[in-house]
Amino acid sequence: MTAPTGSTVRGGRLDGRLIGIGVTGSIAAYKAADLVRRLADEGADVVVLMTPSATRFVGELTFAALTRHPVETDVGGLLPDQRIGHIVVADSVDAIVVAPATAHWLASMATGLAGDAVTAACLATKAPVIVAPAMDGEMYAHPATRANVARLRDGFGYRIVEPESGPLASGQSGQGRLAETPAIVEAVIATISASPIREPDAAARPPLVAATQDADLDGRHVVVTAGGTAEPIDPVRFIGNRSTGKMGVALVAAAIGRGARVTLVAGHVSVPLPTDPAVQVVAAETTAQMDRAVRDAIGDADALIMAAAVADFRPRRSAATKLTRDERLQLDLEPTEDILAGVAESLVAGERAAAERPILVGFAAETGSLDRAADKLRRKGVDLLVANDVAEAGSGFGTDTNRVVILAADGSRDELPLLSKREVAERILDRVAGALDARDTAAQTEAVTQESRA
Ligand SMILES: Cc1cc2nc3c(=O)[nH]c(=O)nc-3n(C[C@H](O)[C@H](O)[C@H](O)COP(=O)(O)O)c2cc1C
Repeated sequence: MTAPTGSTVRGGRLDGRLIGIGVTGSIAAYKAADLVRRLADEGADVVVLMTPSATRFVGELTFAALTRHPVETDVGGLLPDQRIGHIVVADSVDAIVVAPATAHWLASMATGLAGDAVTAACLATKAPVIVAPAMDGEMYAHPATRANVARLRDGFGYRIVEPESGPLASGQSGQGRLAETPAIVEAVIATISASPIREPDAAARPPLVAATQDADLDGRHVVVTAGGTAEPIDPVRFIGNRSTGKMGVALVAAAIGRGARVTLVAGHVSVPLPTDPAVQVVAAETTAQMDRAVRDAIGDADALIMAAAVADFRPRRSAATKLTRDERLQLDLEPTEDILAGVAESLVAGERAAAERPILVGFAAETGSLDRAADKLRRKGVDLLVANDVAEAGSGFGTDTNRVVILAADGSRDELPLLSKREVAERILDRVAGALDARDTAAQTEAVTQESRA
């Protein structure tokens, strides 16, 4: 994300929530950009709806860049996948906050006139609505406005964040200045904190839009592993794990969205595999097969992202025929290949110059403390390690969301809030693209230095 929503420290009070902001045609419309950031600081993903007149005050591009979601400015607008934009917002948000709300919008809403995307979404949603009016003092004091506010509050159950008194844009003084952003944020939190996340499935939420930097993997070859490995006990049974491949497939989708060519080395997955021509899918059942497939694929790779859950042990021997109940079964296990550590080692020993080696990204699924992950980063010789506590609710196998910590070889530690797996994928690729750019810059600097010495 350019200035991503959800870019927060762990533990935000809106972690995993999707908040819709309705912006209407007030002089205070620019303040909605700050509201996006403050909600994001609390961990929220944010999507913006605007009335046509609001777009005369602030460009929709500002909100698209801040939220990375399409901005709904047209009640007749369709998403790229043909879903109706304001209905997707209405069905997936945890709350809609209309800030600033004009006198005109209050009147439209009070009478249910669905002529703009903000009113239409509020009419269509079951989520709570918070309204922060902003206007000239006389307008706010007018009986028509008072009646409309009362209808929204008492008739519809909307929460009103009263405007403040003081100097107004008109040069006059009165009650009509948009409430301060923190007061609006607190009203949102107070309204929804007791209710569960309404729509955790990222696929049902508004899609992400490409930000300006999103072609940053153009021409790069990214190898991603996904799913779990299966180590055979006999022809029908195996030792496996709970990995579904969702995180790896989200990484593939994000990488092709950013212009990369991708090789997906897929173990056992329970999600549809990508069919995009930019993706070559290689099936690998066992850890040994995955190890070979990865080594074959990384010849010209710029990054290897090991999102697969690879078995640490396998049966030393697998039976040629199906074992029966009568047989006394005792499994003799042996360690499997450590693919990532092995690849890191062979790259260092190999012929590729340091400046051309792929960026290596490992995943560490832990239960409980993530302290072991830092040690794993050093031991495995990788550039980035994505650690998550798979025992935590909403994180790990089979979920649509994930809360991860990205550890880097330079010692930095980036704790992300609970995000959709696609969003986690984008954050990981932000780091990969940055590391590749830094690698290229270092190589160019080195070449220039060599040239000047020659
Ligand atoms: C410079 C300027 C500032 C305005 N500020 C406000 C405002 O703060 N509150 C308000 O209710 N109307 C304000 N208006 C009037 C609204 O823009 C107008 O009523 C418009 O139709 C609102 O449309 P909407 O409610 O669909 O966004 C302003 C108009 C102008 C030209």
